[in-house]
Amino acid sequence: MSALPEAIEESSGCSTQLRGGITLFGMDADEALATVTERLSGEGRPERNLATFLTTSIEPEAHRLYRTYLNYNLVDREQYPAIDALLRDCVGIIGTLWHGDDSRVVGSATTGSSEAAMLAGASLLRSWQERSGREWTRPNLVMGAGAHACWKKFCRHWGVEARVAPATGEGPALNGPAVERLCDERTIGVVGILGSTLDGRYEPIAEIAAELDRLQEQRGIDVPLHVDAASGGFIAPFLDSEMLWDFRIPRVVSINASGHKSGMVLPGLGWLLWRDRSRRRAELGVSINYLGGDDAHYELTFSRSAAPVVLQYYNFVRLGFAGFRKVHARCRSLARLLATRLQATGRLRVLGDGSELPVVVVTAEPPVDLRELSKRLAELGWAVPVYTLPPKQEDVEVMRIVVRNDLTSDDVEDIASAVEDFVSHAN
Ligand SMILES: Cc1ncc(COP(=O)(O)O)c(C=O)c1O
Repeated sequence: MSALPEAIEESSGCSTQLRGGITLFGMDADEALATVTERLSGEGRPERNLATFLTTSIEPEAHRLYRTYLNYNLVDREQYPAIDALLRDCVGIIGTLWHGDDSRVVGSATTGSSEAAMLAGASLLRSWQERSGREWTRPNLVMGAGAHACWKKFCRHWGVEARVAPATGEGPALNGPAVERLCDERTIGVVGILGSTLDGRYEPIAEIAAELDRLQEQRGIDVPLHVDAASGGFIAPFLDSEMLWDFRIPRVVSINASGHKSGMVLPGLGWLLWRDRSRRRAELGVSINYLGGDDAHYELTFSRSAAPVVLQYYNFVRLGFAGFRKVHARCRSLARLLATRLQATGRLRVLGDGSELPVVVVTAEPPVDLRELSKRLAELGWAVPVYTLPPKQEDVEVMRIVVRNDLTSDDVEDIASAVEDFVSHAN
């Protein structure tokens, strides 16, 4: 039986609230606005959230564009061909930044890197099934302990074993020797991270690729490499152009990045690019001809706003290569400055110094208590997470500060001073 008649009965009298929050007769827009605003008034401000990698501020012109295109559905390609062309241009631009062959690279806009991971993983699985002639069962995916939870999600949903190289505390968990130890005939692929959510460090993609080449030569096992560049995908092309990590390495078959992180778009936008069509696996595409057009859809989700894609394109034309480089160089230099200040206290040990992703990660010995420090920073309005590292370093507690484009040098000064003050009084 529907809950509505019962609820109306209950509300006979002066109540305007139905159970669960829907009102019986509605209210004026002003009143509704005030009601919801009041309900959310205690929520922290995203710009003060030092935990997140996600973009929290955009300029007014970008906001205007964003609002204009919020009600355009990205999936209606035939109805909005200009938006579809923007999306394709974004794939072309990103493919160039990642040194793909622009006549061959194909890509998808996703809701974030997590959806991109599902798509990339599914393509790896299909390719492996074909490669192995379906003779093998129990496929596995190799990754380092710092891999994001989305990869473990992929493994659970698709029935793939997550083979995880444990953290050693000395350099990245995933490297050449770990790859050699973990890969076998059942390995659908290796995921290298650029860079880690936990400490902001890049995994050695070129070294991992070289080990996979050696594995093929010596043991005949052909394992493709996917790069999860959720944050680094929009940083490395601008700041680390000499470093080999992308489609310049033949072993790299696909790369993902989050447009809503260092791509500087509001949530949610991710990108997944494959080296070429064969790596995307045509059998995973679904044609939806009632929308017009006959291009197959590869994404997992269907309807969603086109605004993030429009904003991504805006950022490319607005900032250009030099603009992206300037923003990220500033974040990296602020992160390094902060790391230097925290290390200089003598009471914190820096594990991530901001020299790759602009992320500062510190650990502490008693009497400095990171959870108390986090509470002190919260009193000053800053949300800073404290967490433990993955196996086998789960007894190490760390604090992480992500330096995003809306953090000013005054903000960094405030944070550094507050930490210095706290640790100097800890006893
Ligand atoms: C390395 C890495 N991969 C994947 C993800 C998931 O990204 P998204 O939030 O865009 O789904 C993250 C998020 O922080 C990440 O750092």
